[in-house]
Amino acid sequence: MTTTNHDARIHTMPGLSVHEGYLPTPMTRLTRLFPDSDVGLYAKLDQLQVSGSTKERTAKFLLDDLERTGVLLPGGAVVESTSGNLGMALARQCALRGYTFVAVVDERANAAAVQTMAAFGARVDRVPTPADGNRLRARVERVAELLASLPGAVTTHQYGNGANPDAHASTTMPELVASLGAAPDRLYVAMSTTGTLLGCQRAIKKHGWRTRLVGVDSAGSALFGGEVGERKLPGLGAGFETELSEEARPDAVVRVAEADMVRGCRLLARREGMLTGASTGAIVAAIGADLASMRPGETVAMLVHDGGGAYLPTVYDDAWVERELDGGAEALSSLDDANPFAGGRA
Ligand SMILES: Cc1ncc(COP(=O)(O)O)c(C=O)c1O
Repeated sequence: MTTTNHDARIHTMPGLSVHEGYLPTPMTRLTRLFPDSDVGLYAKLDQLQVSGSTKERTAKFLLDDLERTGVLLPGGAVVESTSGNLGMALARQCALRGYTFVAVVDERANAAAVQTMAAFGARVDRVPTPADGNRLRARVERVAELLASLPGAVTTHQYGNGANPDAHASTTMPELVASLGAAPDRLYVAMSTTGTLLGCQRAIKKHGWRTRLVGVDSAGSALFGGEVGERKLPGLGAGFETELSEEARPDAVVRVAEADMVRGCRLLARREGMLTGASTGAIVAAIGADLASMRPGETVAMLVHDGGGAYLPTVYDDAWVERELDGGAEALSSLDDANPFAGGRA
C-alpha cells in the first residue's frame, strides 16, 4: 500500500499555521461568471480562512493589539458586537489564547454563526431589536454595559480600532497584489465597519498602486450618507457611519439591493461552483453593473469575504427569497441572462 505525505507538506509550508490566526489565501480567475466579458476577473478566496471569512485576519490583529498594549491580561474577557463572522473568528482565537469571549449579537445574526461561536466556547449575549430598528447601535450600547459590569473585560471595538484596517493593509492587499503579480486596475470590497476597504486603501496609497477602489454597500446602510432602511441579510452595510469610515475614501460606492445580492450569489454558485455569502453576491452585482464601463483586458479583483453555508436558509432558499425580498422572484428568474446586471445599478 502506498501512502501519501500531503499532511506533512501542508504543515511545513511557510506561513501556514492556524494558530497564527489567519491563512494566506489563493486567488482564482473567474472565467465563467460573465461569459461575454473580456476583463480579467480574479477572486481572493478568503472563505478558506479557518473560521470562514476575512474577519479571521481582523480578529488576529485586534487581539494582538490588545495584548501588545497590555489592556488584555492573561485569562481576561473580550467583548465585541458582531453579526457573525468577526464573532466566529474571535471565538476561535480567544479559545486558542485562553480568553473568555462574549459575543453581542442581534436577532438577525445567523443561527449557524452563533452556534459556531458557542462551539468555540463563547458566551452569546442576544440583544432584542430596538423600537427604531437600529440593531447595530443597540449592540454597541450593550457592549458598553457589559464592559462596565464584567471585571477586566475589554472590547476589540472593531468599528473604530486602527488594528482592523492594519490587518488588511499588511496582509489582504499585499497578498492580493503578490498573487496577481501586479496591482489590479480595480478592486471591489464589501463594507461593514469599512476596515477591509480602509486597509486596502492604505496599502494602495503607501505603494503608489494605481487601483480604482470600489466600496460595495447594502441598500439601507447608513455608510457614506446612505439612507437607513431595513436589511435582512447580514455581512455588509452598517446602521451608522462608523469611525473607520470617516477616513475611508473609496473611488466609488455601489449600493446593492438584497435581491441583486442573491442574484450574484446564485450566479457564482452555478457558473463558478462557488458557494458564497451575501456580500460577495453584492460584489458580483456591482461588477456586473460596471462591466460596460471597463476596458478590454482590465484586471478586476474582488474579495470573497465568506462562504455560503450559513446562508443556505436565506440566500439559497427560493421560498425565502420570494417571500422576503423585494424583487426576489424576478432575481431568481433572470439567472440565465449572460449578465443580469447589465441594465445598470439597482
Ligand atoms: C461577509 C463579510 N462581508 C463584508 C466584510 C467587510 O467588512 P468590514 O468593512 O467590516 O471589513 C466582511 C469582513 O470580514 C465580511 O466577513
